[in-house]
Amino acid sequence: MVCGSEEEFQIGNIPDLTGYVSIVTGGNAGIGYQTTLQLAKRGARVYIASRSKDRVDQAIAAMRKDEKGLDISFLKLDLQDLQSIKCTVEEFLSKETRLDILINNAGIMACPFELTKDGLEVQWQTCFLGHHALTMGLLPALSAAALYHNNKTRARIVNVSSDAGLLWGPKSINYDDPNLTDLTGRTAPWRRYGHCKQASIIIAKAITDRYRTKGITAYSLHPGIVQSNLQSHDNTILGTLSRAAMKISPTSSAVDGARTSLYCATSPRAIDSAGLYMVPFGKVDNRANKWLNDPKAVDKLWEYANNQLKNHGFPTEQ
Ligand SMILES: NC(=O)c1ccc[n+]([C@@H]2O[C@H](COP(=O)([O-])OP(=O)(O)OC[C@H]3O[C@@H](n4cnc5c(N)ncnc54)[C@H](OP(=O)(O)O)[C@@H]3O)[C@@H](O)[C@H]2O)c1
Repeated sequence: MVCGSEEEFQIGNIPDLTGYVSIVTGGNAGIGYQTTLQLAKRGARVYIASRSKDRVDQAIAAMRKDEKGLDISFLKLDLQDLQSIKCTVEEFLSKETRLDILINNAGIMACPFELTKDGLEVQWQTCFLGHHALTMGLLPALSAAALYHNNKTRARIVNVSSDAGLLWGPKSINYDDPNLTDLTGRTAPWRRYGHCKQASIIIAKAITDRYRTKGITAYSLHPGIVQSNLQSHDNTILGTLSRAAMKISPTSSAVDGARTSLYCATSPRAIDSAGLYMVPFGKVDNRANKWLNDPKAVDKLWEYANNQLKNHGFPTEQ
C-alpha cells in the first residue's frame, strides 16, 4: 500500500545544494547518471563511484555538455572486490572531510550464478554487501557532515533497491545459504536479485535505527521501471523475453527513475520516511513493513552484515 497525499516530488523541488558533498555509485549510466547530473546542477560536488574511469570520464564530459562547470569527479569503486572498497574509502577520505549524501545506486540484475573472489554470489555482493562495506567505511564522513551542518537531518544514505526485493526474493533472508546456491532453474538469477534487494531495503532501516540520533538517516526505494543497461545481464530466454516486454510496456525515463533517490537525498520532507521503503515519486510503500516492523529481522541482518565485513578484515561497528 502506497501512502502520501502530498504532491509528487519534482526535479525542480531539489533544494540548493551548494557546498554539499555527495557520492553516487554507478553514476556513469542509467538512473545513476541522471541522479548525478541533477545533484551537480543544484550545486553539489558529486563523486561518481564506479569501476571504469573511461566510462565515468565519458559520462562527465556528456554532463558538462549539458551544463558547464559541474563539480563531478571519478572515485574508483569495484563492488565485486571487498578489499578494493577499503581503498575507495581511503581515497575519498584523503580528499574530503565530510559526506552529506551517499547514493548506493550501482547494481546488476539477473546475472548467471557466479562467486566473487570474496566467495559471495555476485549480485549479493554488488547490490548489498559491497554497498554495506562502502557505507560503513564512510560513516565517519557522514557523521562529520551531520556535525558540520549542526543539522540532525542532513547526512543521508539512499539504497536504490527494487520491487524485486518484495516480489521475487525468498520470504525472508536466507542466512543458511545467503548465496542461494541451491536455487535451480531459469528464474534462479532473478530470485537471487530479489534476495539482495530485500537485504538492501532492510539494512536501510537498521542504519537509521542506529544512527538517526547522530544525524544520519538511510532510505530504500524502487526507482520505477527504466530501460537501461541493467536488463542486459540475463542471456537466457527469460532475459530476452523480459527485454522484449520492456520495449512494449510503459517505462519511465532515467530522470524520472532518479526522482525518488533525489527526494530521499535532498527533500526536507523525506526525513519523516527515514528507514522506510519508498516508491515513485517519494511515497512511502508499506509492503516492506513485514520486515521493517520486525526488529529481530532488522537486527539479524545488521549482525550478519557486520560479521561478514569483520571476517573480511573490516573494522568492527563504529
Ligand atoms: N532500471 C530499472 O528498471 C530498475 C528497476 C528497479 C531497480 N533498479 C535499480 O536501480 C539501480 C540503477 O540501475 P540502472 O537501471 O541505472 O542500471 P545500469 O544502467 O545498468 O547502471 C548500473 C551502474 O552500476 C554500475 N556497476 C555495476 N557493477 C558494479 C560494480 N561491481 N562496481 C561498481 N559499479 C558497478 C555500472 O557500472 P558500469 O558502467 O561499469 O557497468 C553502472 O554505472 C540498480 O541498483 C538497479 O538494481 C533499476
